[in-house]
Amino acid sequence: MQNSLDTISAPKSCPCANGEVSESRRKVMRRLGWGAFFVAFSSVIIGTLRFFFPRVLFEPPTRFKIGKISDYPSGQADKHGVVSVSERFMESQRVWIVRESDKLYAIFGKCTHLGCTPKWFTDELVYKCPCHGSQYYSNGVNFAGPAPRPMDRYGISVLDDGRIVVDKSELYTVTDFDDERCYLKASGEQK
Ligand code: FES
Repeated sequence: MQNSLDTISAPKSCPCANGEVSESRRKVMRRLGWGAFFVAFSSVIIGTLRFFFPRVLFEPPTRFKIGKISDYPSGQADKHGVVSVSERFMESQRVWIVRESDKLYAIFGKCTHLGCTPKWFTDELVYKCPCHGSQYYSNGVNFAGPAPRPMDRYGISVLDDGRIVVDKSELYTVTDFDDERCYLKASGEQK
């Protein structure tokens, strides 16, 4: 019996016998402790940096200048009172600048059916939507296809130096077309 106990007891050469195991365990625990400390410390630093450098979404400005009223001269009007439709800002801003005999306004080039971009046909004096066939007169009023209402218009105003500004953050639907913020008198006078 004594012999069998001797066989399972630790040999003298075993590290646990002279405290090496507990020492290495302490080292491991110390390293783990430092590791946890650095992880927590890094989280605090990163959180602080994020506070000073927040993630910002840079969006294009909503206001843009379109020149002066003299850049949109009067002339012969069609049967809807429209003298000219300028496509100068269509590609960059998705906006048509429409001159009538006595006013100027900015049409948002978005079909009121499902939002496609219509095309302006100078020879026919109509806008046509390529998606489901809606059509609009030169003043943006719908007359064919599934579009439920005229195309919307943006806010428009004149600066002190006479330059005209279109504001895409202001959108007006047909019920607001008489609102003086969505058209300019063609004289260009401040309203
Ligand atoms: S999106 Fe223009 S007709 Fe449907």
